Amino acid sequence: MTTDRAKRAAGEAAAELVTSGMRLGLGTGSTVAYFLEAVAARALEVEGVPTSEATAARCRELGIGLLDPAEVDRLDLCVDGADELDRALNLTKGGGGALLREKVVAGLADRMVVIATPDKVVDRLGDSFPLPVEVVPFAIGPVRRRLEALGFEVSERRAGGELSLTDNGNAIVDCRMRGGIADPSALESTLAMTPGVAESGLFIGLATLALLGSSDGTVERLEAPSA
Ligand code: A5P
Repeated sequence: MTTDRAKRAAGEAAAELVTSGMRLGLGTGSTVAYFLEAVAARALEVEGVPTSEATAARCRELGIGLLDPAEVDRLDLCVDGADELDRALNLTKGGGGALLREKVVAGLADRMVVIATPDKVVDRLGDSFPLPVEVVPFAIGPVRRRLEALGFEVSERRAGGELSLTDNGNAIVDCRMRGGIADPSALESTLAMTPGVAESGLFIGLATLALLGSSDGTVERLEAPSA
């Protein structure tokens, strides 16, 4: 498929940034899957902290060494996908439900590189993709009402009628805002101070480079303004 070729191009470009001895942050999602394959194909001596059980399982299959975040002070490079990115490289993430571990791991890394396709670049975050927010199940009612008071249309992520739980045992609510999010940085702070919110899918000021793959195999580089 065209999109698969584009994702593969982005994943392979990111693998070119990896050298033996690096400690990696290993993101989650279909684009990262190509990155993991490309890293394994290069037979580099690397280890990484996975951001989900799915990524951990794939690394075991591919022979990529895993690290426990409890034993890691810093990582050289984190590579992860995104659901949306703006031109300042602020992101929305969490379409796959891994946002909390993704943000913890990105925060450990000297450098975060996003791999995506050009259609994910937006003028305003929240414009094309609802913002995922990870919530402690006990608090889902109060958090939902707080988000609605902020102007979001909120839907609980469910599968077969049951709340879909993350690898951390939390729920996800997907939040739509007509016209997108006016001030993502302020919203991230507001959500961080909301009791019961475990993490939001807003990644502000973390990524320094985006590699945007296209189906013809070309990859566009987009750098954060301060990078
Ligand atoms: C996982 O929770 C997400 O943050 C993913 O990184 C994001 O949804 C991108 O996934 P794809 O590469 O599958 O589009």
